[in-house]
Amino acid sequence: MIENEELIVIKELSFYYDQKPVLLDINLTIWAGDFLAILGPNGAGKTTLIKIMLGLLPIKKGQVFLFGQPIKSFKNWHLLGYVPQTATHFDPLFPATVEEIIAMALFSRKRLWSRTKEERKTISKILEIVGLQGKEKIPIGQLSTGEQQKVFIARALVHKPRVLILDEPTTGIDAETQQQFYDMLQQLNIKNGITIVLVTHDIGIVNRHINRVACLEGRLIYHGTHEDFCFSEFFKEMIGRGDHVISHRH
Ligand SMILES: Nc1ncnc2c1ncn2[C@@H]1O[C@H](COP(=O)(O)OP(=O)(O)O)[C@@H](O)[C@H]1O
Ligand SMILES: [Mg+2]
Repeated sequence: MIENEELIVIKELSFYYDQKPVLLDINLTIWAGDFLAILGPNGAGKTTLIKIMLGLLPIKKGQVFLFGQPIKSFKNWHLLGYVPQTATHFDPLFPATVEEIIAMALFSRKRLWSRTKEERKTISKILEIVGLQGKEKIPIGQLSTGEQQKVFIARALVHKPRVLILDEPTTGIDAETQQQFYDMLQQLNIKNGITIVLVTHDIGIVNRHINRVACLEGRLIYHGTHEDFCFSEFFKEMIGRGDHVISHRH
């Protein structure tokens, strides 16, 4: 890993839907190895910001660089893994197993029946990383919400991304499972060297896992290290407002 490598750089970015301004003059850098939490109230523009990073929304004003390249000419999209907001909530009868859901991403150009032994091994290795070993044959609808979310993370990992971007991944998951979930993300960050960008309301829970914080309210009202954040007015305000429990009420 290159020291201080800049993976995502956002410069003077503004964005609006129709006439409605949503993001204003954002400057944000994400470095290799970061575990960044993006915080902010509903409607703050968090999802919009990460969709722009992922090339899912066009840039209207400002610049975005991915791995040193202007986003317009960037081609290595496999370097970015994405778990969208509300990816889960499956019909219990949804007719696909864990293995099939992951295989869809892994072998998108192949038929499922042509899966080789080696490919199955890749899947079981990824399942082990997210703590779902041995669950290949279980229909996704029979898993708990927390486990379903892990399947989506497994799927986002199949192309070995360097950055994993998650949009409020623990909505609808109980506090204890959330804790395990964030521990797993920390393992990915530390052991596997994957940079994590996490949109969340759970500042009280992710607090000990992250190294950087960005607070969004249309503008980027705070961006800095986790240590500085803990001594900031923003942190006191958020804890005071009880932001860390908001996610349980969605
Ligand atoms: N496709 C869209 N068209 C118009 N307005 C949108 C669209 N998506 C989001 N918005 C609006 O943009 C603002 C920011 O939304 P979003 O990025 O989803 O915020 P957050 O993820 O922080 O809750 C909100 O006011 C939302 O209603
Ligand atoms: Mg959102």
